[in-house]
Amino acid sequence: MCGIVGYIGKKDATPILLSSLKRLEYRGYDSCGVGVVAQKDGKIHSKKTQGKIQGLTDILKDKPMPTGFVGISHTRWATHGKPTKANAHPHADKTGKILIVHNGIIENYQEIKEALKAKGYPFVSETDSEVIAHLISSLDKGDLLEAVQKAIQKLNGSFALGVISSDHPDKLIAARLGSPLIIGVGCNENFIASDVPAILDRTRKIVYLRDGEVAELQKSSLKIFDFKGKQIKPKVHTVAFKLDAVQKEGFSHFMLKEIHEQPKVLSGMLSSRIKNKKVHLEGLSLTDKQLKGINHVFVVACGTAYHAGLVGKYVIEQLAGVPVSIDVSSEFRYRTPIINKKTLIVAVSQSGETADTLAAVREAKLKGCKVISICNVVGSSLARESHGVLYTHAGPEIGVASTKAYTAQLCMMYLLGLKLGVLKKKISKGRSESLIKDLKRVPSFLMMILKSKAKIRKIARANSHFGCFLFLGRNINFPSALEGALKLKEISYIPAEGYAAGEMKHGPIALIDEYRAVVCVTPEADTYEKMISNMQEIRARKGKIIAIATEGDTAIKQHANNIIYIPSTNKLLTPLVVALPLQLIAYYIAVERGNDVDQPRNLAKSVTVE
Ligand code: M6R
Repeated sequence: MCGIVGYIGKKDATPILLSSLKRLEYRGYDSCGVGVVAQKDGKIHSKKTQGKIQGLTDILKDKPMPTGFVGISHTRWATHGKPTKANAHPHADKTGKILIVHNGIIENYQEIKEALKAKGYPFVSETDSEVIAHLISSLDKGDLLEAVQKAIQKLNGSFALGVISSDHPDKLIAARLGSPLIIGVGCNENFIASDVPAILDRTRKIVYLRDGEVAELQKSSLKIFDFKGKQIKPKVHTVAFKLDAVQKEGFSHFMLKEIHEQPKVLSGMLSSRIKNKKVHLEGLSLTDKQLKGINHVFVVACGTAYHAGLVGKYVIEQLAGVPVSIDVSSEFRYRTPIINKKTLIVAVSQSGETADTLAAVREAKLKGCKVISICNVVGSSLARESHGVLYTHAGPEIGVASTKAYTAQLCMMYLLGLKLGVLKKKISKGRSESLIKDLKRVPSFLMMILKSKAKIRKIARANSHFGCFLFLGRNINFPSALEGALKLKEISYIPAEGYAAGEMKHGPIALIDEYRAVVCVTPEADTYEKMISNMQEIRARKGKIIAIATEGDTAIKQHANNIIYIPSTNKLLTPLVVALPLQLIAYYIAVERGNDVDQPRNLAKSVTVE
């Protein structure tokens, strides 16, 4: 999704804006731009380009931007209009005095555009965003903050906004409704950004702008107002994570680094959430009595988080005996789910900014449900809007393909299942303690798999030429198959389907021939024999099989072309362990095909629009 960075202070804005914008590259974008109020002539200057920030930097090397102490910059992920220079941000008003950057979608832009055109405002782009610049200009009576406040009253949709004006070189205005925006508080300088990593090397003091707030930043002051103009005291948070967390630290990609971080993330989570052999879920904000009263859990999530929710369904139903429903968030909000006050909504999201998941949560709250979220980003919209939040604390996830956030979400599902199971007396103290013991061994299993990554790379390379992949799993590893397929298609662009293996004969078997590869998730399981039957059916049709199997399973050799072994673990916990080899298969195939692993085409890290 689009990324915004703004600066006001005593330093030259452009280099700061470009280096901070680079830290938002992971969000996904197709064009970019920067604009400042120049010191030399007091005028607005801007440069934009289609393509990467490096391209913009090269343009600025040839024709440097004049020094300016206030500026805004943007990476655009096209929604309205192609990824062209004209559609890139910043957008200027007709006088060329006002410059804006926008993230989100203005739903009533057509109507506003027609009205402004009738008044003689010329439009040069196909975007919805350009109307904002002209609208502010049309309402500007000399007070930029007031003009922005009036303009946003007229906008429907979602926005994070940064606005500068040559008439007010001492001000940077920001506003937020439905799209993330944070403020960085520095010493004689202040920043706005779409996400914390952008400005982490400049300041750790962060104000999370909330929906319906407008901010006026000057170099040494910050004022926040609600949309009606009432002033609000800013709450400054100090961000805990270090700069290392947003750097590759010697790994060739963030995705590979994040895959390697999983043992540490899981052991950190387990040691903070398990005390005296009991699960402690601080942040849940529900009393034991309320938890006991829950008779239905409903998970809402998108993409990888949805797959974590699917595993959660198996886990919670098995451990707590509570029925679990699950919807992708975009479906939940447009149908009539059967939910009530006894339904616990569990919203799962790495970013906490996914528009569909936020909308699902709002819908559920209107129906009187209690909402808890499993979320990675502290202070995100989802965390704020949920009644309780279980933070995964996996650290910033920069790679677009979610890896460590997924296993952290899975881990939280096990902890939630255990907590509910014990409270509802569905599982004994002994079973809970033994599962906790098994959970604690998972990080070391992941380390062992990482040690065998050279072998996984070899297998991935040998299979990277296949034009189509099928991923099969059963029972609790059916979601693992879905996740393996999603990972592969996201970063390798190879068509990949995830299926419950039992469904193979109901359609996907038609795909199988010697040109297809099938990844069979086949750890120790009650359905193991059934998986073997599926593998035989694939071999009979000359399909090539990569099996993920349990160490010591020699019998599988006669069925699979390649085998990746995982350590033997509790059957219920296998999704946590098989996730890592599936991630590595996708990673190495994408690398072999020369793809941009961390910023795959067309994808955005957090999907903040519908
Ligand atoms: O931030 P969220 O967890 O809400 O994001 C949900 C999906 O957009 C996300 O998991 C997406 O599917 C990833 N690219 C998967 O790797």
